[in-house]
Amino acid sequence: MSERETRPFVLEGTRINVRLAEPDDVDAIIAFFVANEAHLTPYGAACAREQMTREHWSDQIERRRAEFFRDDSCRTFIFRRDGGAVAGSANLSEIVRGPFQAAYLGYALAEREQGKGLMHEALTLLLRFAFAELNLHRVMANFMPSNERSRAVLDRLGFTVEGRAKDYLRIDGAWRDHVLTSLTNPAWRP
Ligand SMILES: CC(C)(COP(=O)(O)OP(=O)(O)OC[C@H]1O[C@@H](n2cnc3c(N)ncnc32)[C@H](O)[C@@H]1OP(=O)(O)O)[C@@H](O)C(=O)NCCC(=O)NCCS
Repeated sequence: MSERETRPFVLEGTRINVRLAEPDDVDAIIAFFVANEAHLTPYGAACAREQMTREHWSDQIERRRAEFFRDDSCRTFIFRRDGGAVAGSANLSEIVRGPFQAAYLGYALAEREQGKGLMHEALTLLLRFAFAELNLHRVMANFMPSNERSRAVLDRLGFTVEGRAKDYLRIDGAWRDHVLTSLTNPAWRP
C-alpha cells in the first residue's frame, strides 16, 4: 500500500471540508446533482440524468479513489461541516508528471451556496495541497468568457490569464471559447 493510501485524505476548512468521497456519501452526492441540474448544465458541470444513480456513484467513488492513489487525479467534493451536505465539487484532473508537473482545475458550487466565499475557501485548501503535498508546478483552469463568477474566483486566487482558446470545449450542445489561466508554484521542489 502506498504512503498516500495509508493517510486519510481530508482538507479541513472553517466552514467546509474538501475530501475524496466515501461510499456513504452517495446519497448526498446525488442530492447535490439533482438539486443543481439546471444551475450546472450551462457550465458542463451537471451530472447526466442516467448517471444520477447509486450504482453510478458507487462506481465513481471507487474509480476516483483509485485515480488518486495512482497520482492521476484528485477529484473531491466540498462538504459543509455543519450538516455534511455536499456544497460543491473541486477537481484536479489529468495530472501529468515529467517535465510538466501540472493538472487541470475544475469546480462547481451549489446554487444556494454561492456568494459566501465557500469556493475560495475550498480552492485555497486544494491548491495548497496541490503545491505543498502533490508538488505540482502548474495548475490550469479555464472558463467561458461570460462566466464572470468563475473569472472572479480565479482572479482572487492569483491565477494569470494566458490567452483565449476558440471553440475549446463542447458544453451544453455547442463548442465554447474559453479563457485560459494558470497558477504556478513558486516553492516547487525538484
Ligand atoms: C463559479 C462558482 C464556483 C463561483 O461561486 P462564488 O460563490 O461566486 O465563489 P465563492 O464561493 O468564492 O464566493 C465569492 C463571493 O462570496 C463573497 N463572500 C461572502 N463571504 C465571503 C467570505 N467569508 N470569504 C470570501 N468571500 C466571501 C465574495 O465577496 C464573493 O461575492 P461577489 O461575487 O458578489 O463579489 C459558482 O458560480 C458555480 O459553481 N457556477 C457554476 C459552475 C461553474 O461555473 N464552474 C466553473 C466552470 S469554469
